[in-house]
Amino acid sequence: MNMSEDELQKVVDQTIGSEETAQEKKRTKRCGWGIKVTAIVVLILLGVLAGVLPFLFKNHYLDFVFGGDTSNNRPTGWQGNDTDSNEGHHNNSSYDLDPRLTRSFWGIDYTPNGAQMEYGCSISQDDVVEDLKLLHQLTPRLRLYGLDCGQGYYVMNGMKTLNIDMGVILTIWVDGNATTYERQYNAFWKLLDQFGADHISGVSVGNEALYREQIKPAELIERIRNVKSNLKERGYDHIPVYTTDIRSLPDIMPEEDQVLDNVHPFFAGVTVDQAPSWTWKYFKDVVIVPTIRLARSKGIDQVKPALISEVGWPTAPESRVYQGAVPSLKNLEKLLFSFVCQSNQKGVPYYWFEFKDAPWKNATFGEPREAFWGLFDKDRQLKVPRLPNCPLPLFKNGDVSVPQPGFAFQ
Ligand SMILES: *[C@@H]1O[C@H](CO)[C@@H](O)[C@H](O)[C@H]1NC(C)=O
Ligand SMILES: *[C@@H]1O[C@H](CO)[C@@H](O)[C@H](O)[C@H]1NC(C)=O
Ligand SMILES: *[C@@H]1O[C@H](CO)[C@@H](O)[C@H](O)[C@H]1NC(C)=O
Ligand SMILES: *[C@@H]1O[C@H](CO)[C@@H](O)[C@H](O)[C@H]1NC(C)=O
Ligand SMILES: *[C@@H]1O[C@H](CO)[C@@H](O)[C@H](O)[C@H]1NC(C)=O
Repeated sequence: MNMSEDELQKVVDQTIGSEETAQEKKRTKRCGWGIKVTAIVVLILLGVLAGVLPFLFKNHYLDFVFGGDTSNNRPTGWQGNDTDSNEGHHNNSSYDLDPRLTRSFWGIDYTPNGAQMEYGCSISQDDVVEDLKLLHQLTPRLRLYGLDCGQGYYVMNGMKTLNIDMGVILTIWVDGNATTYERQYNAFWKLLDQFGADHISGVSVGNEALYREQIKPAELIERIRNVKSNLKERGYDHIPVYTTDIRSLPDIMPEEDQVLDNVHPFFAGVTVDQAPSWTWKYFKDVVIVPTIRLARSKGIDQVKPALISEVGWPTAPESRVYQGAVPSLKNLEKLLFSFVCQSNQKGVPYYWFEFKDAPWKNATFGEPREAFWGLFDKDRQLKVPRLPNCPLPLFKNGDVSVPQPGFAFQ
């Protein structure tokens, strides 16, 4: 059975209920004649459901909703394996393993100390190596936010020093200043020449630059195409190129090799108890379903891989609440234990935001809360008493694959 684009849209909106539709419904809700209309809509819905439910189940569109067992239909891209917990946790390097840490995070967002050019670069190799010792025990993958101050070099070289393999998403920072872009763009190619592509799991042209309105979609697309064609010329066209944003996703998506979205339950103002289900639903509605639609519109089965490029929770100051969302250590711990292993199980790829507290962000963002999203504090002390334990396999060199949640295209 093949559904048309219209039918898919209808099913998605009516069965699962997209954010937009929900919002629109709220705005246009009218009383009075509502009951009759509701009755008719319910009847139509039942009809549609009867027609398409078998299809949806067959293709695992609804596993998200009903928590279906997805273990048997994981696409080949999924590297998760709950049974090979400590395999490969060898001690190659001359550092102590921390018994509180297991490689249970799909990825972690990381900004080394002293990597902001506007504050003067004070990054050091030793400091990055100390971070990497912890990071490597926590995750197979990192995501960096820029390439200033040699941070890409220190991370790649630090991995070499430690004899560890991790995947890294490199971001060429976009802030509307052409000089910034050119500087980081050049740093990227230099890094590629120096270290090759084994540890590069993707290149992000900017992070939330569309959201900050520092660039127009068309200009960003031009830059994405440029990076892609240069990679191809150098024989690295397997490296996925994309941007990371929370706005204009539909404009950009067709140009991207993978789709990244920073998904923050905190800024949705939900309570920490609602945070995991809110995050999965948002990811599904705003990212996964549009990728399915895009594939459909092109008449292809291959859905673009998608991932949550940021998810996390701030721990202070507790007064800086956002609606129902309260910064606290307890809440960070709650989200960790209700999201991390559960997402691994579902095959939802995510980068935890973020590795350690970043005091400089208080000044940069004019918001003290921004400085306290770390799993570790600024002095590299673990902030919570324990972390989730559901280890993932080590990174395989050159692996750029991303799992697709079981609910998505079979
Ligand atoms: C998971 O790990 C076990 C034990 O190491 C192995 O036998 C199995 O093939 C792995 N499964 C996948 C899907 O990689
Ligand atoms: C790893 O190796 C270092 C030095 O070789 C050693 O001091 C440390 O105890 C080892 N850690 C583990 C967990 O084996
Ligand atoms: C240790 O080294 C071996 C061989 O070089 C490699 O296969 C393995 O992945 C390394 N382990 C870690 C934890 O990096
Ligand atoms: C762009 O950044 C450079 C330094 O990175 C600075 O010298 C220049 O003034 C900036 N240009 C604009 C228009 O802000
Ligand atoms: C954040 O910056 C403000 C303004 O400079 C300052 O008053 C405040 O103490 C800072 N908060 C933290 C937690 O550093």
